[in-house]
Amino acid sequence: MAIRKLQNGIGAQDVFSELESFRANDVQWRDGRCFTLAYSAGPEALAVAEEAYRRFSGENALNTAAFPSLKLMQQDVVDTVAGWCHGDDDVAGFMTSGGTESLVLVVRSAVMRAKREGRLTGTPNMVLPTSAHAALEKGADYFSVESRRVGVGPDWRANISAMRAAVDENTILIVGSAPQYPQGVVDPIVHIAAIAAEHDINCHVDACMGGVTLPYLEALGEEIAPWDFRVDGVTSISVDLHKYGYTSKGAGVLLHKNKKLRSDQTFMTDNWLGGMYGSSGILGTKSGGPIASAWAVLRFLGDDGYRKVARSARDSALKIASHIDAHPLLTLRAQPDSTLLCFGTADPKRHDVFALAELLIERGWFMDRQTPPASIHLTVHAGHEARIDEFLTDLDECIQEIEGRTGSAGSYATTD
Ligand SMILES: Cc1ncc(COP(=O)(O)O)c(C=O)c1O
Repeated sequence: MAIRKLQNGIGAQDVFSELESFRANDVQWRDGRCFTLAYSAGPEALAVAEEAYRRFSGENALNTAAFPSLKLMQQDVVDTVAGWCHGDDDVAGFMTSGGTESLVLVVRSAVMRAKREGRLTGTPNMVLPTSAHAALEKGADYFSVESRRVGVGPDWRANISAMRAAVDENTILIVGSAPQYPQGVVDPIVHIAAIAAEHDINCHVDACMGGVTLPYLEALGEEIAPWDFRVDGVTSISVDLHKYGYTSKGAGVLLHKNKKLRSDQTFMTDNWLGGMYGSSGILGTKSGGPIASAWAVLRFLGDDGYRKVARSARDSALKIASHIDAHPLLTLRAQPDSTLLCFGTADPKRHDVFALAELLIERGWFMDRQTPPASIHLTVHAGHEARIDEFLTDLDECIQEIEGRTGSAGSYATTD
């Protein structure tokens, strides 16, 4: 570590030009060149998101008694997401800082419910497909829950009989995704939730990726496998707004089937000298920025706007998927159920998919590389529409150039 002594202050303009200079090597996500990490519904929605964030960045959602504005906005946002998930009047939720916080809280909630109901006779466990998001492992690690990962079927969806076999008397949680991140397919939620209902345990649907897009695709007439509160046995759903809600980073929603189940998420203590402390999430002090940004973008895009951006993202994803599917040197892992897709090369010994990814990255694109199996992953959003032809041309050219080259796997997330 290089210890740094803070220098005397400089003018605001100089600060901002230094700040902008740091961006030189960042991926150009606003231009539709990035297929992971960042989302764009165009410059206008982005401007609304950023301005709303700026206006409320200093407000603190730790105690909304001081900021009724944040309480109001948060409730509007949660209610809207509950509508997308076909919740009834009993459904209750909170905003979180995003998918990871939601999933960690899902694990905590299941532990708290099991304790509340006096069910545990040993180490609690959760049963989930190998495709469910890594943040659930984080939750299991934080709250000492055994993670029972069950292999997926040949279609990359959860294997129901294997999941059923993995459940025992200490299973507190069972999980499915809509869609799962790695191959972009929706798990058979009806069957997963039925197992949970049989055992009267929590069933979480991770719709962090699909929770905004799937309802609009359904409204547009697409056949979508059931995944929301209309499915018996589903007890909670997570939906991220900082993904396909196109709002600023730090905004997700975690919904529970009712207030009793929601109470397992919250934390209360008066065991210190500062009085009663209650909190719905992991953070204490929480910027009002993400809340205001989420509220503002929902208001700005509205129902018609979300329908349009869902259509655009879906059409772009399908266009890429059919190009890859028809390509003799590439293999599409699965037909995308929403807007995420994943592919490898037809002959991995001849064409290393990571070498392909590296070449595309050299050309100014950015995407995730994942294993197993070695694949390129694309998260396609509304900001890609104008770039798809250019991307596919580069893809076709790059695959011709990689014979004999090898690349490295990269990493989905980093610790530095
Ligand atoms: C299905 C799914 N769940 C949860 C998450 C975690 O979300 P975040 O990175 O916003 O914390 C992701 C992230 O991509 C995801 O794809």
